[in-house]
Amino acid sequence: MTERIVVVGAALLDGGRLLAARRSAPPELAGRWELPGGKVEPGERPEAALVRELREELGVEAEAVERIPGSWPLRPPYELHVWTAHLRPGSAAPAPLEDHDELRWLTPSDIWTVPWLDQDVPAVRAALPRLGAASPDA
Ligand code: CDP
Repeated sequence: MTERIVVVGAALLDGGRLLAARRSAPPELAGRWELPGGKVEPGERPEAALVRELREELGVEAEAVERIPGSWPLRPPYELHVWTAHLRPGSAAPAPLEDHDELRWLTPSDIWTVPWLDQDVPAVRAALPRLGAASPDA
């Protein structure tokens, strides 16, 4: 039996918007958009992996808030779990440091204007209801 490996994706929320990241590599994924994140390392808590991945990939200090129920298959043995997250006060603004070449904050009405990775689509759909709740001025 192959062990499953969890990939954590962040629904990073700010002012009712969701951060989408365009992959620059590998070639078969380049140009498609995803929830930023990456593999949970052995013995690592998923929330800690999320914070680490967002620091590495985007240069931000973030906090995992809550897991969005669900688990989405990626290529075996990976599966995607998604957590809502927000930037900590004083964090740098996100920048595409590795893996990505463009970032975009999407409102609910522009959420489907970018070509998401197929496997991220159900996770983005599940994250969508959280956008409104994150905005104090919505
Ligand atoms: O950064 P790390 O090497 O830990 O992970 P990654 O290369 O960013 O992601 C691991 C795998 O999960 C890759 O095959 C990605 O394509 C996939 N992935 C995904 O399908 N959707 C995401 N939101 C994040 C990662």
